[in-house]
Amino acid sequence: MRWLVTGGRGMFGTDLVQLLAERGEEVVAVGSAECDVRSLEAVRATLQGFDVVVNAAAWTAVDDAETHEPEAFAINAVGARNVALVAAETDTRMVHISTDYVFDGTATEPYEPDHPQDPRSAYGRSKAAGEWAIRATNPDALIVRTAWLYGEHGPNFVKTMLRLAGERETLKVVDDQIGQPTWTKDLAAYVVELVDGKNPGGYYHGTAAGTTSWHGFAQEIFRLAGLEPSRVEACTSAEFPRPAPRPAYSVLGQVGSDRRPEWSASLKELLESTI
Ligand SMILES: NC(=O)c1ccc[n+]([C@@H]2O[C@H](COP(=O)([O-])OP(=O)(O)OC[C@H]3O[C@@H](n4cnc5c(N)ncnc54)[C@H](OP(=O)(O)O)[C@@H]3O)[C@@H](O)[C@H]2O)c1
Repeated sequence: MRWLVTGGRGMFGTDLVQLLAERGEEVVAVGSAECDVRSLEAVRATLQGFDVVVNAAAWTAVDDAETHEPEAFAINAVGARNVALVAAETDTRMVHISTDYVFDGTATEPYEPDHPQDPRSAYGRSKAAGEWAIRATNPDALIVRTAWLYGEHGPNFVKTMLRLAGERETLKVVDDQIGQPTWTKDLAAYVVELVDGKNPGGYYHGTAAGTTSWHGFAQEIFRLAGLEPSRVEACTSAEFPRPAPRPAYSVLGQVGSDRRPEWSASLKELLESTI
């Protein structure tokens, strides 16, 4: 099959492209310089002759989106719609990557894929609008929500913790936000599995199994890196106010969750292969 990955040089896109190449698939990765998804003409010029397009292009700066909401919408909503429209025109299967931020983050049990959206931040609103725009233009598209991504390529929480470990004796990390740390490589495998399985269009949740807090995640990073976990102290979100509100509970329910890798097992695998 021929795959196109828009936003293909980001943290997730890079792992997806690598996995597809390893499987012997034909894959083309484009960044914003080659295919700016805000431009319908650019998407039409690029998305020709592919079987699958994965839209990993996004405005991902959550806090900056609060003061740049139109710019975030241009990429996350209009850009997603452009890819969906051209995918429908060219009979190309579309996979779109979305986020836990489309939910309100106040639940106490996992959000199922059909749970109503209720975003609380500009980033969340822009991603929710992208989901709706896709459903309206290309109902066959697979919309895969994920959360708490980390990986080998690009800045992320794991790299930040390891850097801070070298700079400070102790650090404080919030323990009142619960989620599922998800390795980009596992998400890539899930996307390929969904396409291979010819699953129907709609919402899917692509996060790891198990849950933890950012504090628990940080302590596990320290432990696996051979550092003393107690150097990571717990604090509350109120101690670290951010421009965009963070969901307190970001656990996504999954169909077939028994087959999803446990977050700590994937973290171990990444750290063993990169440290
Ligand atoms: N990171 C997380 O924790 C997280 C959590 C939940 C969901 N997600 C979602 O997962 C997806 C992948 O995230 P990621 O962390 O891999 O993001 P990332 O590393 O920031 O990559 C996003 C890519 O989007 C591209 N892009 C930005 N503006 C564009 C435009 N106008 N046209 C085309 N491409 C554009 C960028 O490419 P250039 O560098 O070429 O500009 C960048 O490489 C996104 O949809 C994000 O919303 C991420």
